[in-house]
Amino acid sequence: MTDCQPVLHLENRSGLSDDIAVLRARYPRSAWSGHRNYGELAAFWRSVHDGLRREGAALADLTAAFRAGQLEPGLFQRRFMPQLAHHLRHLEGHHRIEDDQYFPRFRRLDRRFARGFDVLENDHDVIHDEVLRVADSGRALLHELSRHPDARQRAAERYADDAECLLHLLDRHLFDEEDLVIPAMLEHGERPLIG
Ligand SMILES: [Fe+2]
Ligand SMILES: [Fe+2]
Repeated sequence: MTDCQPVLHLENRSGLSDDIAVLRARYPRSAWSGHRNYGELAAFWRSVHDGLRREGAALADLTAAFRAGQLEPGLFQRRFMPQLAHHLRHLEGHHRIEDDQYFPRFRRLDRRFARGFDVLENDHDVIHDEVLRVADSGRALLHELSRHPDARQRAAERYADDAECLLHLLDRHLFDEEDLVIPAMLEHGERPLIG
């Protein structure tokens, strides 16, 4: 794991500074999709991020409905684990491709990107730990579904807390990553990033 200054650490961050997001000021978010270099990779990258946000929000809604008594345990059980497993697999797979394939290519494009991609790789480690915690508390919740309602509620509460933490970290990470990768694609074009 890369060492980051505490202020850059995902849990403490409210965004990236301009000296890390070095191209952000030149390419404001509102103008991204109209830029001549905005291509399929940028659009795909953002659509994957939107998908991850939607999956996390859908799981939060499902869990909230269950905790409020609006979903009976059998129905919750049938929906919950497939949705959770898909979301966590999708998230981990996305980060693996970024770490193994794309981030090294961004680093080669411009030496000034190094600090930003150090931060993002560190985020992936933090998020991976949280994914493991959410998978554990999700399994514990399933285990408690057939038990006493009090134990069930406690397990649902623990899972919801862990999942909320993951979603919060993920939202921050996705937004900051977009501030690095999309301006880099607009500056350099997508060709050097496609292996
Ligand atoms: Fe990422
Ligand atoms: Fe990403």
